[in-house]
Amino acid sequence: MIDKEKVKAFWDARARKYGAVPYDSIANLEQDADSLALKVELETEKVFEFLGSVESKTVLDLGAGVGQWSFRFVDRGAKEVLAVEYSAELAAIGQSEVEARGVSNVRFVVSPAERFSTDRTFDVVFISGLFVYLTDDQADEVLSRLPGVCHPDTIVLLRDGTGLETRHEIDDRLSGHLQTRYSATYRTAAVYERLFADHGFRLLRSENMFAEGCVLNKYPETRLRIYEFSLGGSD
Ligand SMILES: C[S@@+](CC[C@H](N)C(=O)[O-])C[C@H]1O[C@@H](n2cnc3c(N)ncnc32)[C@H](O)[C@@H]1O
Repeated sequence: MIDKEKVKAFWDARARKYGAVPYDSIANLEQDADSLALKVELETEKVFEFLGSVESKTVLDLGAGVGQWSFRFVDRGAKEVLAVEYSAELAAIGQSEVEARGVSNVRFVVSPAERFSTDRTFDVVFISGLFVYLTDDQADEVLSRLPGVCHPDTIVLLRDGTGLETRHEIDDRLSGHLQTRYSATYRTAAVYERLFADHGFRLLRSENMFAEGCVLNKYPETRLRIYEFSLGGSD
């Protein structure tokens, strides 16, 4: 099982790349400029194809990093985004970006996702690249709290690395691309579906983010995948 202290240290250190790598790369981890541009383009297309219009919607961005998606939501008319991020350093970069962009409806909260609580609900809960960095206990805690921030029409969009055949774990391994030690857990699509179902969520739709053959599918064992869930209810 990955070590949550090492994962947290990895993300705090990532904040120190601010200024040295493109803004979108800080949390997204793609450091090659061409691949980053293609990734942002293809992912933005797919995420908004799944979400439809976010005009006037409220969004909870769990594990928001520096807020690259939070800003895409308000740029497309979202009423408000609450960005929850446990690395104070990454949240501070996001907050300074809020000020630099003159945006008034993105707010960062420094909190572990598994401890975050509020008495309100959101129209969209966006969870992007978070679960691969959670231990099973943390994942279960996040999912236990999730129904509390959802109303019957909330769209929960999960965008996360997924093990193809089996769960794939990278435990404190040196990454050539990142030049640092790295940990992540890639759960299978069936496991994601079961974990969400255990907490009252129904899978509406899921797809791999990139078509087979795309250069962004870098590893044979995993795919970046997008899942749309809702709390019980009908399609
Ligand atoms: C791959 S980045 C994704 C950031 C952003 N969601 C995006 O898609 O650009 C993963 C983010 O999750 C954050 N994170 C990891 N574990 C967390 C936890 N337990 N609670 C809150 N944030 C966490 C990391 O600090 C990092 O910013």
